Amino acid sequence: MPTKKLPSGLHRDTLAVRTALPPSQHGEHSEALFLTSGFVQSDAETAARRFASVEEGYTYGRTSNPTVTSFEQRLAAMEGTEAAIGASTGMGAILMMCLGLLKAGDHVVCSRSMFGSTINLFGREFAKFGVETSFVSQTDIAQWRAAIRPGVTRLFFAETPTNPLTEVCDIRALAELAHNAGALLAVDNCFCSPALQRPTEFGADLVIHSGTKYLDGQGRVMAGAICGPSKLIVDVFGPVVRTAGMTLSPFNAWVVLKGLETLGIRMQAQCASALAVARWLEAHPKVARVHYPGLESHPQHALAMRQQGGQGGAVVSFDVRGDTPEAARASAFHVIDSMLVVSIATNLGDTKTIITHPATTSHGRLSEAQRKEAGIGQGLMRLAVGLEHIGDIQADLQRGLDTLP
Ligand SMILES: Cc1ncc(COP(=O)(O)O)c(C=O)c1O
Repeated sequence: MPTKKLPSGLHRDTLAVRTALPPSQHGEHSEALFLTSGFVQSDAETAARRFASVEEGYTYGRTSNPTVTSFEQRLAAMEGTEAAIGASTGMGAILMMCLGLLKAGDHVVCSRSMFGSTINLFGREFAKFGVETSFVSQTDIAQWRAAIRPGVTRLFFAETPTNPLTEVCDIRALAELAHNAGALLAVDNCFCSPALQRPTEFGADLVIHSGTKYLDGQGRVMAGAICGPSKLIVDVFGPVVRTAGMTLSPFNAWVVLKGLETLGIRMQAQCASALAVARWLEAHPKVARVHYPGLESHPQHALAMRQQGGQGGAVVSFDVRGDTPEAARASAFHVIDSMLVVSIATNLGDTKTIITHPATTSHGRLSEAQRKEAGIGQGLMRLAVGLEHIGDIQADLQRGLDTLP
């Protein structure tokens, strides 16, 4: 059925709802879910041309699928990049990026405050294949500069804000440094999502997403993506996903595609509640420290406000006191176990508020030394604020905090 082409210059909220492949001949209003592993070809010649990539057209589900394409087009439109490519998970997206960009002998500079699995992927798995990674301070640009190995450093990789301490790095400064060294800058944008922050506007080359987080936003599916220029997405990462198979399933793509439609309003509401909770925690006598970029006390508050559209995000981390690591852990466990509404889980970005003890869960597989270097103590908790009433979230926290020794 004939469809109108969207005009240029539409706002991001509109792109989040409207960008997709045109509807099928049936004219479905909500984007269709193409739950199929393969695609029928009209004749052998057509099949040959499509497999040789000289003609566009779907062939086999590992390579692509129309529902996945709609998700990729919508996410790219929201990030303001030329293209995007889906992956089975956020970690799958990072793996795809590295398989595409790196070879034995290459060097990566990575923030040491990244998500625990990212640190393990670079520090342990890629090291087996001769790719070395230097882990540096998220916020000290001098350390990034000092780590560069001329002619060998290919990639800078940062996450901002970081999981779980919400440290914010200066994307523009890192991009300049990376480009001067002949390297690319990739930014993991999970914590902000394109609703708040678009790293390529500050010079980043690639954006990594775990669609499992805010993009789905309702804790339903695993998904991932890389956003960036077509020459990398189509020519470099496309062949990797086709041969290595970290493909995004059409069902998951469809769920996240629909999740993107409400991303903007969810983020607004969750950020507002997170700021209120952060202020409330900061005033509580049993809380030693609150890590939240929206607070004036955050060391990179001004930078975060510039990069994140004036929002702090929806993740608040906080420390409770303890004379020893064991005492701090007991206090954190007491607060977590006092929750009656908030879920004890390891995900974030859900409409349901989640509390996590990073030292024994998301960052539990790091060594004590790595955790110490990353600033993750036993008294630290991460609260991913959802859409429940703010009074109920605070009451849950208060129950545990008020009864600490
Ligand atoms: C910042 C960040 N990046 C990447 C990932 C990995 O995403 P996934 O769980 O979809 O593989 C996570 C997961 O928690 C994360 O928090």
